[in-house]
Amino acid sequence: MKIISSIDELRDQMRGQLRTAFVPTMGNLHEGHLSLMRLARKHGDPIVASIFVNRLQFGPNEDFDKYPRTFHADVEKLEKEGVYVLFAPTEKDLYPEPQQFRVSPPNDLGGILEGEFRPGFFVGVTTVVLKLFSCVQPRVAVFGKKDYQQLMIVRNMCRQFALPTEIIAAETYRAEDGLALSSRNAYLSEPERAEAPALYRTLNEVAAEVRKGQPDIFTLERDSMASLAARGWKPDYISIRKRIDLQPPSAGDIAQGEPLVVLAAAKLGATRLIDNLEI
Ligand code: PAF
Repeated sequence: MKIISSIDELRDQMRGQLRTAFVPTMGNLHEGHLSLMRLARKHGDPIVASIFVNRLQFGPNEDFDKYPRTFHADVEKLEKEGVYVLFAPTEKDLYPEPQQFRVSPPNDLGGILEGEFRPGFFVGVTTVVLKLFSCVQPRVAVFGKKDYQQLMIVRNMCRQFALPTEIIAAETYRAEDGLALSSRNAYLSEPERAEAPALYRTLNEVAAEVRKGQPDIFTLERDSMASLAARGWKPDYISIRKRIDLQPPSAGDIAQGEPLVVLAAAKLGATRLIDNLEI
């Protein structure tokens, strides 16, 4: 595996490659990331992964400085997955001058859910993803459904900018007890780690109620947040949305079987976890 940090060197290395499958990451790789690499392999060749902790997508009080950085262990894992190039730029490589041009997702998609609680997050994500795509020039790129809203925003960005990159969605990779794998799980204490699967259990309970035909989604959302709060969580949201545009469904949408997804974000101690479940 070639490890490349400069954009020019990456371009030289990738010249003529027309079927590149790309998996962007912020490192601290776990089985979830490796499952993205395996899915990438089914859709293209060679595989390029990136590791870049993107300052632009962190708020001033968020965990940019303490975000886990495990470069050497990550390299070993990617080698085993047969990744051809690891693009690991420094901040100077990727942002040699202040990144003044930014991508601005529409407010009805970028300003809701995660966008409401993490202002600027999706501007940071789409800006770096567009720049990484411009460097790697992938034919396909794989994103996990765990970051459901991110996946949808990136997909819409590609469509609206007519980028030649197809976005492939990967199922969320879960631990045996249901907890979605995430680099931020590393922040959990032992008792918090034992409690963490309650988030996914709650999503399953909400989904089961909706499937049974419970039409009062407001009450469902409120009660499920209250039950998490009673267990010591601080929920930001538990929200039932239409899969197509992440807007709230009407009673008619629910009655007509509109495909839905329930999304959640909640803090357990100092750690903010997100998860979702398609209904
Ligand atoms: O999902 C992530 O790890 C990041 O948001 C991404 C897509 C690598 C952009 O920094």
